[in-house]
Amino acid sequence: MSFTIAFSGKGGTGKSTIAALTVRHLTENLQKTALAVDADPNSCLGLELGIKVESSISDIREEILKKKSDFPAGMTKESYVDYCIEDSILENTGFDLLTMGRPEGPKCYCYVNNLLRKYLDKAADSYPYVVIDNEAGMEHLSRRTTNDVDVLFVVAEPTMVGINTISRIKKITDELPINIKKIAIVLNRVHGGSIKENVKSQIDDFGLETALVLSMDQEIIDLSSSARPMSELSAENPVFKSVGDMLDKYVGATAAV
Ligand SMILES: Nc1ncnc2c1ncn2[C@@H]1O[C@H](COP(=O)(O)OP(=O)(O)O)[C@@H](O)[C@H]1O
Ligand SMILES: [Mg+2]
Repeated sequence: MSFTIAFSGKGGTGKSTIAALTVRHLTENLQKTALAVDADPNSCLGLELGIKVESSISDIREEILKKKSDFPAGMTKESYVDYCIEDSILENTGFDLLTMGRPEGPKCYCYVNNLLRKYLDKAADSYPYVVIDNEAGMEHLSRRTTNDVDVLFVVAEPTMVGINTISRIKKITDELPINIKKIAIVLNRVHGGSIKENVKSQIDDFGLETALVLSMDQEIIDLSSSARPMSELSAENPVFKSVGDMLDKYVGATAAV
């Protein structure tokens, strides 16, 4: 069984940045292997990990839906799906990356999607860690068939908009047909590093703990503004270190292998 770490939050809060640093901590500092899953339709995790993504699961789905029977010689639809996904998984030192692309439309609860999900659940199990970068609605997560989420970090800015999003995501998780064992908040892009009392007390009212408060970081701003990935952030960067400490606390004690 793999240990699944998921990130969710509004666009622009820092999910992909923190997910990429999570992958770095697991692979570089803890020497574990991970499957990184970009489940945000606005796919950016590859960029943050310094990888060029050529095709997504949604591209594969479109292609197979178009190809009714014309599969390569000796291949069933099922084996062709497996082949395409394996081909789209980008392998790197310590981790592989899978990019989901757009979620399937409402008309698409079909055979191909079932094959995709079955394969993904099976593949995910062969890594000790799975790191999922989600959009706020967690559409891809909601369509998974098996595998719990061990910890969901909701990334938000410490503003009223941030608070509303946390509240909405909490509601969504209550309705998701999967088991999320733990939810914690990561407050990111915090100016001056301190949180206003009213924001704190509202978060407390949700009954959720705040795992981490991350300040605005100049090195991240500099890398981001020259389109450089988080794989180039220095090992001593305070945000990277804090993310590592948080993972050691929430993941380290329980994770297998
Ligand atoms: N702690 C931080 N300090 C400075 N900039 C940050 C920080 N966290 C994220 N960013 C920047 O904020 C922007 C949005 O981050 P990103 O990870 O792409 O968000 P999301 O995946 O939630 O849409 C990026 O330009 C990123 O470099
Ligand atoms: Mg993102």
